[in-house]
Amino acid sequence: MDRKFYLTTPIYYVNARPHIGHTYTNIVCDVIARRQRMLGVDTWFLTGTDEHGLKIERAAAARGITPQALVNEVSAEFRSLWDRMGITYDDFIRTTEERHKRGMQELFRLLQKNGYIYKGSYSGQYCVFDELYVDAVGPGAPCPECGRLTETVSEENYFFKLSAFADQLLHLYTNQPDFIRPETRRNEVISFVRGGLRDLSISRSTFKWGIPVPDDPQHVIYVWLDALSNYITAIGFGSPEAGERSNFEKWWPVDLHMIGKEIVRFHCVYWPAFLMAAGLPLPKSIMAHGWLLFEESKMSKSRGNIVRAETILDVLGADALRYFLLREIVFGQDGSFSFDALVQRFNSDLANDLGNLASRTLTMIARYFDQQVPYPSAAAARTPADNAIAELAARTIRETSALFDQYQFSRALETAWSLIAAVNKYIVENEPWNLAEKNDESSRARLATVLYTSAEALRIVTALVHPVIPDSTARIWSQLGLGDIRKFRLPELKWGQLGLGTRIGKVEPVFPRADKTAVERMQQLEEQERKPAAEPLATALAPAVEVQPSIPAATPVLDGNRIKIDDFMKVELRVAQVRTAEKVKGADKLLRLEVDLGGEVRQIVAGIAKAYEPEQLIGRKIVIVANLEPRKLRGLESNGMLLAASIGEEGRPVLAGFLEDVPVGARLK
Ligand code: MSP
Repeated sequence: MDRKFYLTTPIYYVNARPHIGHTYTNIVCDVIARRQRMLGVDTWFLTGTDEHGLKIERAAAARGITPQALVNEVSAEFRSLWDRMGITYDDFIRTTEERHKRGMQELFRLLQKNGYIYKGSYSGQYCVFDELYVDAVGPGAPCPECGRLTETVSEENYFFKLSAFADQLLHLYTNQPDFIRPETRRNEVISFVRGGLRDLSISRSTFKWGIPVPDDPQHVIYVWLDALSNYITAIGFGSPEAGERSNFEKWWPVDLHMIGKEIVRFHCVYWPAFLMAAGLPLPKSIMAHGWLLFEESKMSKSRGNIVRAETILDVLGADALRYFLLREIVFGQDGSFSFDALVQRFNSDLANDLGNLASRTLTMIARYFDQQVPYPSAAAARTPADNAIAELAARTIRETSALFDQYQFSRALETAWSLIAAVNKYIVENEPWNLAEKNDESSRARLATVLYTSAEALRIVTALVHPVIPDSTARIWSQLGLGDIRKFRLPELKWGQLGLGTRIGKVEPVFPRADKTAVERMQQLEEQERKPAAEPLATALAPAVEVQPSIPAATPVLDGNRIKIDDFMKVELRVAQVRTAEKVKGADKLLRLEVDLGGEVRQIVAGIAKAYEPEQLIGRKIVIVANLEPRKLRGLESNGMLLAASIGEEGRPVLAGFLEDVPVGARLK
């Protein structure tokens, strides 16, 4: 048996705050890490933040702060959320840390030394949102991954000879079938590689927020090469210290990279190719999970459909969220989140099933046996019902363990809960409260056996599900008088270990039932987060602003009202590039933009907030009426108007743009 287990989460971009989509990955990894530790395996669990690249640079510009200030702030938010949720990471890597930069540059040098890097020039499209080079599409094309507009990049770059690795990669996928799981993702990757691999640009020279290429600081290293290498730099790759380097020897290759399904290509094609080129061992396995959906689409900030973990922690606690995500989502597939379903699961499975089992078993031991685990009758005197629970518990240990090992969390929990249901039924059928009323010896012996059986089953289920709901199970464990659950080792788990006469701890409810207002309270907390704080009265009273005056889509163009070319030429239309964009407090339709006209930066307030997220606009080239008189909207001066088509009855704005690249400031006529 392999006695070490190194597992990683993706490192999260810090352009936006964490939501429960990110939380999902870290919870799954935490469950795996906790279970490995309980199995007695030496475990190392790495998470962290991905802090370089154009996306981050622009997000910082949009907030008017330095990239370093932004990454410090958001990285700390991720970290404190993980702490609050009880995520037991062993290390948290930030790609702006010195240890990472050093190791990353070392990897770059190694790739250079081995002859897999050359200088060339890249001319093509780039998706800033995905930080992805998009091949084979022209200027103005949308990104095939996310649908956002790509930008044209034309610059001298360093290239990685990805094309040299197609055969080796295909060989890897065939010979190591567990390299990519689940099967659907494996098939996608195989067909992507069979479609042919082109060399990959691995540096950028038109912005600064990244790790400099060794000996050529005009270039910064492509953010995905930078980010992927965190998995080795965090454990000491490229460190000058012998101790750190031996750490790398100890942990690498990684046992499991856990990722979301949208970043499979980076992990299953680029990453192993970089490692092959560097002559380093390859990951043992990569597992891609599905997406957490909210209101039917992938939860993400740009869609505005996020739920924050803090809201759930405030109202129901971390275990509620952990249990829900693992029980409700079939691992590997997409799953939906809703507050109603969360509260329902919490009440039925945690408060009712497990909570009741724990509290009635423990309360009865306290009351009828003076807080000491009673002695059950000798085997011969036990009933088939007693034995059935013992057998079911033994089977549950085997089945749940196998399901956890296959990452079938939902089924593992379902199996554990069948034991809980069976014990609850057993208690009801054996009516220990009635046995306690009778004072004869045989009733007393039955009572002892029923409570012993219930408590032992409770102990077993508590140990099995501890990795998923660590807080509440730790409390049940100590109420059972067993001390610190983290010291318990799962391979020892079997029926009959609950010490006779063990003094149980103080009995307290572990899951207070969520009342009717829980859903409302969570929804309100989320609403408050989405709506900016109320603004001062003076601006709140300003008239509501419409999207630019629009002609309904179906209106025929008027004939009698033609204008002369001179009239048209009075309107100065220019190409502008959005530098910063942000929502206007208290006005849900408005965005405040700063646009570059080539030598001049202007503020424009536009009624497009319902159709565009601020980050989506940064870097985008738009058309503005540049010589419009300034006007004030919600107290902000707007110096120009942007052009957009107005679509449908609601006049949804769609920004005007160009299919070819155009210089900023160019006039339209
Ligand atoms: N920085 C890159 C990853 C680099 S790894 C070397 C990145 N970051 S991210 O912030 O966009 O996070 C992506 C990961 O967050 C996903 O792969 C997934 O693990 C998690 N999720 C983010 N939103 C999610 C959902 N709505 N549902 C499930 N997981 C989600 O990509």
